[in-house]
Amino acid sequence: MKLKILVAAGDGIGPEVTNEAVAVLKEVAQLGGHTLELDARRIGGVAIVQDGTPLPADTLAAALDSDAVLLGAVGGNEFNSLAPDKRPEAGLLAIRAALGGFANLRPAFAFKELAVNSPLRPEIIDGADILFVRELLGGLYFGKPREWNRMSGEAWNTMRYTRGEVVRVARVAFKLAQGRRKKLTSVDKANVLEVSQLWRATVIEVAAEFPDVTLEHQYVDAMSMHLMNQPRSYDVVLTENLFGDILSDESAVITGSLGMLPSATIGGKINLYEPVHGSAPDIAGKGLANPLGAILTGALILRHSGELEAEAAAIEASVRKVLEQGFRTPDLARSNPQGFKVLSTIEMGTKVRETVKTLLVSA
Ligand code: NAD
Ligand code: IPM
Ligand code: MN
Repeated sequence: MKLKILVAAGDGIGPEVTNEAVAVLKEVAQLGGHTLELDARRIGGVAIVQDGTPLPADTLAAALDSDAVLLGAVGGNEFNSLAPDKRPEAGLLAIRAALGGFANLRPAFAFKELAVNSPLRPEIIDGADILFVRELLGGLYFGKPREWNRMSGEAWNTMRYTRGEVVRVARVAFKLAQGRRKKLTSVDKANVLEVSQLWRATVIEVAAEFPDVTLEHQYVDAMSMHLMNQPRSYDVVLTENLFGDILSDESAVITGSLGMLPSATIGGKINLYEPVHGSAPDIAGKGLANPLGAILTGALILRHSGELEAEAAAIEASVRKVLEQGFRTPDLARSNPQGFKVLSTIEMGTKVRETVKTLLVSA
C-alpha cells in the first residue's frame, strides 16, 4: 500500500501535535511494509508571514496531488485584527473548498478510561458514542453577500443552502447511521430560519431512502443542552456548518478534552483530515498540547484513505491502552487529584508509538 500525504501543520500547537501523528503513522507504515510519501507545506499564519498568503499556491497544488491531506491547526493572536479573507483561517477555508469534501465527520466518544477526567458524571457519559456529520462547505461560512460596511456601521453574512447541498450531506449521514445504531438526529433552527426549514424538509425527503434509520429533529439551542444531559441518546448527529462547529467543540466535554477529537472530511476530490481543536496559542510551544486528537486523526487517514482498517484500529487501541496505563497530558489530568502520570506532547506521542509497535508486532 502506498499513500501520498500532504502535511500542512500550520500554527501554534499544529506542528507539535502533527509531528506526533506523523511519527505514529510512519511507525505503522514501516511495520506493515506500506509506503508513506510525506510532503510538508505551509498554511495559515506561518504562510502569511513567509509567503504573504494563508494558502500558498504550492501548498494547494501539492494538496490536490495527494491521496490525503493532514492539517494541524491555523490561527494566531497576531492576526486577530485582519479582515476574514486575510486571516490564517481563510487558508483553511480555501483548502477545504478546493479539496471539495462537504461531509466533516467528527466522532466523539467517551473513553471509559477518561470518565474520571470529564466534568460530566461517569453515569452520564458512560457508553456515549456520537458521530457528528457537519456540513463543511455551505452556510454562513461561504454564503454571499458578506461584508462589514464601516461607512454605514453595518455588517452582514448570508446563511445559504441549496437543496442539493443538503441532500448530499444527508445521504452521507444516513449511510453512516445504517452502519451504526440506525438513529439520526438532525439539528436546525427551523422555528426561526428559512434555511433551516429547507434543511429539515430536505432531510425528511432523504430519510425516505433509508427506511431502516430512525430520524429525529432537534433545535440547536435545546440540542446543546441535551448533549450534556443525555449524550448516550445520540448516534449520528447531522447539522449545518456553524451549528456543527459549535456542537462538536461542546462534545469535547464528553471525552474530557478538545485535544482528544479527530475529524475526517469526505465526499470531495481529496479527503482532508484535521483534529477538531485549533492552534491553542495559550499553550503553544510549551509541550503541553495533547497529541491524541491528531494521532486519532492519523488513524482516520488509514481507515478512509488507506483502507487499512486493522492499522487504524491498532492506533485507536494503543491510545486506549496508554490511557488505561494512567498516562495523561495536562488538559486531561487537570489538577490531577488521581495522581496520573502527566506527560508532555512528545512523551505522549512516543508512548502511543511504542504501544502500537507492540500491538502490531504481536498481532
Ligand atoms: P482552540 O481549539 O485553539 O483552543 C481552545 C482551548 O482548548 C484552549 O484553552 C486550548 O489550550 C485548549 N486546547 C485545544 N487543543 C488542545 C490540545 N490539543 N491539547 C490541550 N489543550 C488544547 O480554540 P481557540 O483558542 O478559540 O482558537 C485559537 C486559534 O485557533 C484561533 O485563531 C482559531 O481561529 C483557530 N482555530 C483553528 C482551527 C483549525 O485550524 N482547524 C480550529 C479551531 C480554532
Ligand atoms: C474548526 C475551526 C474552523 C471552523 C475555523 C478555524 C475556520 O473552528 O475546524 O472547527 O470554524 O470550521
Ligand atoms: Mn471549531
